[in-house]
Amino acid sequence: MRKVGTIIDNLRKGENAPDRHENPYLKEAIQLADYLFTQNELNEKISTLFKDTSKPLILEIGCYMGKNVLEIASQNKQLNILGIDITYKRVVKAARKLKRLNIDNGKIAICDGRAFLSEIIPDKSLNGVCVFFPDPWPKDRHEKNRLLKKEFIDNLYQKLAPKGFFWFKTDHEQYFEETNKLMLESGFVPDDGLNGEPLPQPRDILGGPYETAFQKLFTGKGVPFYQRVYIKE
Ligand SMILES: C[S@@+](CC[C@H](N)C(=O)[O-])C[C@H]1O[C@@H](n2cnc3c(N)ncnc32)[C@H](O)[C@@H]1O
Repeated sequence: MRKVGTIIDNLRKGENAPDRHENPYLKEAIQLADYLFTQNELNEKISTLFKDTSKPLILEIGCYMGKNVLEIASQNKQLNILGIDITYKRVVKAARKLKRLNIDNGKIAICDGRAFLSEIIPDKSLNGVCVFFPDPWPKDRHEKNRLLKKEFIDNLYQKLAPKGFFWFKTDHEQYFEETNKLMLESGFVPDDGLNGEPLPQPRDILGGPYETAFQKLFTGKGVPFYQRVYIKE
């Protein structure tokens, strides 16, 4: 499974970064140890990341520069939220904002979303997972790179606690339809319920509405997007 963040691990151990990785974001990552974790560190610290570990845990995969993590954490002190992404620059920018505002219920990790679900988080530990505008990989030959595939969705089901939610947004209609089919086949119940009875929504739980960076971009260009919430029964 893909592993990211090892350069930060090495820097934190006092080793030098390879020349081509000399950049200010990596140097800053050393100063953000209470807010920014690597995939290796998550393996050891996942149960102690947050000050109050009794709070419900929400995960955002592909958190980009942390806009949602910051907004959700500051508006919902009753829960913890972890944002993960795979690029150094984005996670450093996200963790920097949390540190500046002294937010202790929001954390960031440089970590692959598939590895997080399959190798790091124990079963039934997550109360909600958000994936907003994941890369759609629209070309047939790249389709294998998509995040939301059957294996991922089966793992997601296992890692969510009962009544946990999955909140998905995308601008790509085909990705939306294919994911929707996989979600229903995996036993998730859509937000409108199987018999049309409304289920609790993240927006009821989390407040909001939260407009992601890519959502803003698409909306600004008049591009429609699709979203749905699924509940683990
Ligand atoms: C198109 S951007 C959307 C960003 C943000 N969710 C939004 O809506 O504004 C997709 C993000 O997912 C991240 N990403 C891609 N593959 C990932 C993976 N396997 N695990 C975690 N993050 C990933 C990318 O680095 C990028 O920041």
